[in-house]
Amino acid sequence: MIKKPNEKIIRHSASERINHWLVVIFFLFTAISGLGFFFPSLNWLMNILGTPQLSRVLHPFLGAMMFVLFVGMFIRYFKHNFIDKQDIIWAKNIDKISKNQEVGDVGQYNLGQKAVFWLATICLFLLLISGIIIWRPYFSDYFPIPIIRLALLLHSVAAIGLIMTIIIHVYAAIWVKGSILAMVEGWVTRAWAKKHHPRWYREIVEKEKPQQEKSS
Ligand code: HEM
Repeated sequence: MIKKPNEKIIRHSASERINHWLVVIFFLFTAISGLGFFFPSLNWLMNILGTPQLSRVLHPFLGAMMFVLFVGMFIRYFKHNFIDKQDIIWAKNIDKISKNQEVGDVGQYNLGQKAVFWLATICLFLLLISGIIIWRPYFSDYFPIPIIRLALLLHSVAAIGLIMTIIIHVYAAIWVKGSILAMVEGWVTRAWAKKHHPRWYREIVEKEKPQQEKSS
């Protein structure tokens, strides 16, 4: 039984939220301009940064900025994204999850969220390495043509991987009511926390105990 189910608890601090939404802004500009370079039918998207020429110049800088900002998120979140036994239970009951039922003693993040975290990390790392190799004015001269070709392929595959991962991430965020508010305003209700992340909620209650004892 939760005493005050509608009471708000903090899920993401202000700096975590600012970090996340900055990554989103840089992701949108790099992804949209990148899709414009890649598909002839989407060439018009190259105007997202003013003109196609400007997009060509700015895309690698924005991508590098996104990586640097994501490192901030990685440092904040990686400790909550290690796979544990409860995640196996979650994965085995994926049919129940798809019917909106909660399964297992989920901590701060469930296996789906952890998968998004690690896939985004891998894709961004590959995008940075391959992006440096194909960055013409600065680095390409240091690499032989076959390596540049390979890097171009890797860059495209990692970009598609990241875009698909984020589409699933956004879908899940809309699906679980209350989670977008958590990333916008920072809070969730006790009932939300207990329903979706019971182990994380117990940890919060444990942390509150000494404070309650002090104030009583
Ligand atoms: C419009 C796009 C996006 C929306 C609406 C969105 C929404 C959200 C929401 C609601 C959460 C909080 C989930 C919770 O507290 O349970 C979250 C967490 C997170 N998001 Fe996003 N997001 C977007 C784009 C991105 C992008 C582009 C990235 C990285 C490249 C990203 C990486 C993360 C990470 C790492 C977390 C923490 C979850 C974890 O560590 O497993 N998001 N996002």
